[in-house]
Amino acid sequence: MSVKTIGVLFGMEDTFPWALCHEINELARRRGLSVKGEPVQIGHISQEQGFAYDVILDRISHEVPFYRTFLKCAAARGVQVVNSPFWWSADDKFFDNVVARAVGVAVPRTVLLPHKEHPPNTTEKSFRNMGLVDWDEVFRYLGFPIFMKPAYGGGWKDVYKVHSREEFFEAYDKTHTLTMMAQEAIEFTDYYRCWVAGRRKVKIIPYAPKEPHESRYSAVAGQVVPDDMALRVTRDALALCDALGYDMNTVEFAVRDGVPYAIDFMNCAPDADLNSVGEETFRWIVSEMADFLVERVLHPVPWEPTGTWPKALGLIPH
Ligand SMILES: Nc1ncnc2c1ncn2[C@@H]1O[C@H](COP(=O)(O)OP(=O)(O)OP(=O)(O)O)[C@@H](O)[C@H]1O
Ligand SMILES: [Mg+2]
Repeated sequence: MSVKTIGVLFGMEDTFPWALCHEINELARRRGLSVKGEPVQIGHISQEQGFAYDVILDRISHEVPFYRTFLKCAAARGVQVVNSPFWWSADDKFFDNVVARAVGVAVPRTVLLPHKEHPPNTTEKSFRNMGLVDWDEVFRYLGFPIFMKPAYGGGWKDVYKVHSREEFFEAYDKTHTLTMMAQEAIEFTDYYRCWVAGRRKVKIIPYAPKEPHESRYSAVAGQVVPDDMALRVTRDALALCDALGYDMNTVEFAVRDGVPYAIDFMNCAPDADLNSVGEETFRWIVSEMADFLVERVLHPVPWEPTGTWPKALGLIPH
C-alpha cells in the first residue's frame, strides 16, 4: 500500500511544524497507518507538475506569494490544502463581519472607509464613483472610542484606538493606501482567543491583549471560563469557522455585558508557537491538528470554494 503523505509548509516558526510532523508519524505508528508527515520540498513549478503530497498544511503562504500559487496548483491536482489558498486570498475582515451576523455571532458596529491616499497607479480621476463620507453619521453610528484597523490586517499592524474626531483623523492620515475599517470599541471585561482545529474542536484560551506581547497568555493563565460563556463561545467559534471554511483558525472574542463580540477571526495561520501559547495549549494544538490531518488524508473531501456562508446568506439553497 502506498504511503499517504502530509506535507507541512512553514516559515520562521520553529516549534509547531516539527512537533506536528513528529505527532503525525507517532499517530501513524500507533495506529498502524501508512501515513507520514514531513516538511514540503519545493523547487520551481511547471504547468504539468504532479505533487508528492496528499495533504498540505499551509502555515506561511500569506507571506510568500510564490507558495500561494504553488498551493493553488497543488489543489488543482487534487492535493487537500489546509487552509484553502483560494478562499483566504479572497477573504477580508469587513466581509467576514457580514458573514458573522448571518450566522448569529455578535460583532462590533463597523464601517469600511475609503483609502486615505490614492492607491498606486490611481489618481483623483479613478474615484469619480466616490461621493463624500458623512463623518457625522459615521461617528454617530460608532460612538467613541473607535478602533481603526485594516480590512486585510494581521499582527496588530496599523491598529489604532481613538477617542475623539481629532484623534480619529490624525490616525486616518497615517493609513495611506490601506483599506481601513472603523469599529466600535468593545470595552471588555474578559477576552478570549479560541484555537479552532478542523472546524470541530475549540480551545478557549483566556487572553490579555492589553499586556505586553510576551505575557498576553501567561497573565490570565488559569482564569476560569464560566460554563454558559464557554458554550456560547464554542458555538460561535465553530459557526464562524464553518461559515468561512477555515480548518485552522483563531477566533477572538471581547466580552461586554455578558455578550462575546467576535473581534478577530480571519487568521489563516494562527499562532501555534510553544513560546507564546504555552505547553498545555501547544500540546492540544499539535494533537488536534495531527488528528485532523490524518483523518483528512485517509478521508479526502471534495474541493470546496469556501465555507457555508453562501447558504447562511440565502444566496444558494440549503
Ligand atoms: N472593536 C474592538 N474593541 C475592543 N478591542 C479591540 C477591537 N478591535 C481590536 N481590538 C484590540 O486590538 C487588538 C488587535 O486587533 P485585531 O486582533 O483585530 O488585529 P490583528 O492585526 O489581527 O491582531 P493580531 O493578528 O495580533 O491578533 C485586539 O487583540 C484587541 O485587543
Ligand atoms: Mg487579533
